[in-house]
Amino acid sequence: MSAKTARAGSKAQLAPAASKKASANALWGGRFEGAPDALMEAINASIAFDKRLYAHDIAGSKAHAQMLVEQGIITAQDGRAIAKGLETILQEIESGAFEFKPALEDIHMNIEARLTALIGDAAGRLHTARSRNDQVATDLKLWVRDALDRLDTGLQAMQTALIGQAEAHADTIMPGFTHLQTAQPVTFGHHMLAYVEMFGRDRARARDCRARLNENPLGAGALAGTSFPIDRDMTAAALGFDRPAANSLDAVSDRDFALEFLGLAAIAAIHLSRLAEEIVLWSSAAFGFVTLSDAFSTGSSMMPQKRNPDAAELVRAKAGRILGALNGLLVVLKGLPMAYSKDLQEDKEPVFDACDTLELMLAAMTGMLGDLHVEKDAMRIAAEAGYSTATDLADWLVRELGMPFREAHQTTGQIVKLAERQGCRLDELGLEAMREVEEGINSGVFDVLSTENSLASRTSFGGAAPNNVRLAIIAAKEKYL
Ligand code: ARG
Repeated sequence: MSAKTARAGSKAQLAPAASKKASANALWGGRFEGAPDALMEAINASIAFDKRLYAHDIAGSKAHAQMLVEQGIITAQDGRAIAKGLETILQEIESGAFEFKPALEDIHMNIEARLTALIGDAAGRLHTARSRNDQVATDLKLWVRDALDRLDTGLQAMQTALIGQAEAHADTIMPGFTHLQTAQPVTFGHHMLAYVEMFGRDRARARDCRARLNENPLGAGALAGTSFPIDRDMTAAALGFDRPAANSLDAVSDRDFALEFLGLAAIAAIHLSRLAEEIVLWSSAAFGFVTLSDAFSTGSSMMPQKRNPDAAELVRAKAGRILGALNGLLVVLKGLPMAYSKDLQEDKEPVFDACDTLELMLAAMTGMLGDLHVEKDAMRIAAEAGYSTATDLADWLVRELGMPFREAHQTTGQIVKLAERQGCRLDELGLEAMREVEEGINSGVFDVLSTENSLASRTSFGGAAPNNVRLAIIAAKEKYL
């Protein structure tokens, strides 16, 4: 779309440029004679999305004003008026009474303009020794910090649901897969605990991110610091930061914390999408391993028999948005010179959208998983098919007959071929048939050929034996819940 058609096409929303020129410039009055073009306002304004920063913006302003008073930079009287005005604005926003104006660009200017209307001249002193550049970096850090804390809670709820299923199915046999081919029997509980570990690492990444971001940008000014005798330790402490950010240029241009947040959100989303894909597979007629509750299934408008796993499919798909957000912000930051450039305004929407998306994915998956009904018989039958105890047979040949593993592998392969030809499971092949392949085999072999015995023997640390799973559940509860 050309600039011309863009302008014509958006006439409905945008006032014609000429009429604007007549009024004075609301923001930069001192230096500017003309008003911004409507398109300038349209591309420049961020209030539609950065209004989500209001609470953090107000908290930052209160801390800043308090510090200005304590340092003797503004009077206590002005400080009190500012604090009171900000409190009123917070209530106005939360009650829905506040009018956000695109002409005032962003959340910072909207709040400041309202403060001026409420308390007059004192409002103009709040911005002493501060720039929107250090202000917005502070706001977004505070927002991401809260988001990380919510994410930790959401991930823990997910782990609680997984551990609940693991407890119910510590000895429910299911086929373990490699290459999606039946490999060795495991338990459904063991499978659930694998995801508990994955989400545990996601939580650890969130903690790391939180610790690294927790340095205060406020006081960096536009880019070079300030000549006013500010106390950055004071505002850092008031806002729960560990310390002030060490370099003023870095403080206003750093968005590593947003990238890290999106990075860890992307990894968590990938984990969720893998679980979602398994639920899609398991709930299909071909697998029949699980049944989703009515609450987390949808029907088909045409085929009455259908029970669709839409929520799982959407969790699988929504991971794409989060990867897009990460990629988008990486590209925004690539090659950006120091210090602040307006490009940085594009950091917020990907962060907000990824956060909203991930929270919804987590909540839906937690609900779906908690309600999931496991079809034990179907899982067991599938585990018994596919020669899932072939490795146990090979191990038995090594242990009992002293065969090198490679030779045992060969021999077992021949026995599997035999069973395949006869259309039976390994434990249904007679001793005689097996002895045709390897005459050293004796009836002791049947101890290892059942899926139950195979599973029970996987007692190495981290292995799938039901006893291990029960111990692992206790450990996981201690570590994560
Ligand atoms: N709305 C801006 C942002 O989100 C605030 C900072 C503007 N700073 C400036 N120098 N224009 O990045």
